[in-house]
Formats: sequence, C-alpha cells, structure tokens
Amino acid sequence: MTNAVTSVDQTLELLTSGNYVADRALATALYLALRLGRPLFLEGEAGVGKTEIAKVLATTLHRKLVRLQCYEGLDVSSAVYEWNYARQMLEIRLAEASGDSDRDSLAQDIFNERFLIRRPLLQALEPSAGAGPPILLIDELDRTDEPFEAYLLEVLADFQITIPEIGTIKAEQPPIVIITSNRTREIHDAIKRRCFYHWVDYPNAERETRIIEARLPGVPERLSEQIVGFVQKLRAEDLFKLPGVAETLDWTQALMTLDRLELDPQTINDTLGTLLKYQDDIAKIQGSEAARLLAEVKRDLAAAG
Ligand SMILES: Nc1ncnc2c1ncn2[C@@H]1O[C@H](COP(=O)(O)OP(=O)(O)OP(=O)(O)O)[C@@H](O)[C@H]1O
Ligand SMILES: [Mg+2]
Repeated sequence: MTNAVTSVDQTLELLTSGNYVADRALATALYLALRLGRPLFLEGEAGVGKTEIAKVLATTLHRKLVRLQCYEGLDVSSAVYEWNYARQMLEIRLAEASGDSDRDSLAQDIFNERFLIRRPLLQALEPSAGAGPPILLIDELDRTDEPFEAYLLEVLADFQITIPEIGTIKAEQPPIVIITSNRTREIHDAIKRRCFYHWVDYPNAERETRIIEARLPGVPERLSEQIVGFVQKLRAEDLFKLPGVAETLDWTQALMTLDRLELDPQTINDTLGTLLKYQDDIAKIQGSEAARLLAEVKRDLAAAG
C-alpha cells in the first residue's frame, strides 16, 4: 500500500501542515499504521484531539472522510447498507400498473444496486474520486455493543462485506482506518490486536501553547501562557470532568472576544463555564481557588523568565 509518508518526521510535518500539533509517540503510531496498513486505535479523554486526527488526515492526504459515528444500538442497516424500501415499493407498483408482473425479474430488479442505500462501512470499501482510498473514521466505538464489534472485526479482517442479494463487495484498496474510544468501556482485545494502539493524553504545556498558536493565531503570548498554565493546573485538581484541549481553545476564544490581554480572577470566574461543564466543578474552583491557581501560574511564569 502506497502512502504519502515515508518517515515519522514526515508524518509529524503532515499533521502540522493540517494545524494538528502531535507528539512524537502519536506520529510514530500513525506512521506505522499508515505504512503497514493497519487501523489506528486512539483512546483518550474527551476533547484531546482524537476525532480531529482523522479529519486532518483526510484534508492533508486529500482523501474522502467517511465517518461512522457509533451509538448504542447501531446496527447493520445504519452502519453498512439498507434497501430503499420506499423506492422498491414504488418500482413494484409501477411494474404492476404496466402489467409486467413476472415475479423473478421483478425481484432481480428491486434488489439491484440502484435501490441500495450505502452506509459508511460500505462507502469506505468503494473506490472514491480522491487521491486514494478513503479515511474511515469509526468514532466512539465504546458506545456500540459487542455484537456490532464482532461484525466490525469481520469487516476489518478482510475489508469485504457480503450482501446476500448482490454478492460480496471487496475493497480494491483498503481504507485508512482510525478508531476512537472514550473508554467508557473496554473494547474487545480482538479488535485492539488488529490495530496500532495509542493513548491520546492531555498535551503538556509546551504542546498546548503550540496548539493555541496553530488553531487561533494572533493570541498574545502572555495570555496564551497564562491560559495554558491555568488549564494545566486545573487538570491536577480533583474534578469530575477535566478540561480537554477543546475547552482550552473555547476559553481562549472567549477571552479574545472579551478583549482580555491577561487573566484576572474576576474574568476567570465569569468565563469558567467555557472550561468546566459541571456545576460542582465550577463551584469548587470559582472564587478563592481560582485566585490561588492564578497566583501560582503568574509566579511560575515570572520564575521561568
Ligand atoms: N493536538 C492538537 N492540535 C490541534 N488541535 C487540536 C489538538 N488536539 C485537539 N485539538 C482541537 O481540539 C478540539 C477537540 O478535538 P477532538 O474533537 O478531536 O477531540 P476528541 O478527542 O475527539 O474528543 P471527544 O472524545 O469529545 O470526541 C478540536 O477542535 C481540535 O481542533
Ligand atoms: Mg471525538
């Protein structure tokens, strides 16, 4: 399988060109997955950039992005294909009206690809107009149930799908597969074994600062340093839900909209809702705790330079 990248460094550059700031471990896992044609399994907390990797890959490699959003009860008719009953019925009515009621030929007619609704897994096996096989994003796999996982395992094993009325459809070139999970439950070992696995962690301060630069150019350096310092400290607190990168970016945007050039306790209190999404967490941080964390951040930054 030919892919655009030929080294870990190139993979890092590719992601950077799509404004995605990866660390070396992630770039290595992605590089190996691309080179060896194996799915990449990304697990991590909410908002750390799992889904975004697939989107950035599609953009930078000029591939079609096929996204399968998983949820409880996801079944073959939503994930793979289903017959367009309404159109089939119409076809039957038309055949009846024209007096053409040869049953066998009618059955052949209506179980024809024209009446097939292609869902993401099937779409991912078909050639696309882009530069190569599509990127198949199987997002939040932990939300589905085990029977679907078992089905997925089969598809990932040989990239083919059998439709009883039509036959077997096999990908000429397998798609690039990215699977994500928030780890609300463990995914079966059999799936993980087929993939390269990478735990996407919260970024360190240096990387988080670069993420702000990449995503929201023009943020004053002093402000972004304080934002990152504060968020990093929040992640060490005992909270129900820690802020992800998505929250850091939301907060930055809010502060920019309010024309703030640096953090102060009042502004933090007023905007905490962009960072923390549970009232208990907000109540815990608001006020003196926020002021204490901010003082620490400012002291650390002053000491650093
Ligand atoms: N390393 C990164 N470089 C650039 N942007 C990032 C990075 N990590 C996260 N982001 C940004 O953070 C936001 C959230 O990322 P994303 O939606 O991929 O998170 P997620 O891990 O899929 O979260 P969830 O589990 O809630 O679905 C996106 O807008 C993305 O642009
Ligand atoms: Mg996601």
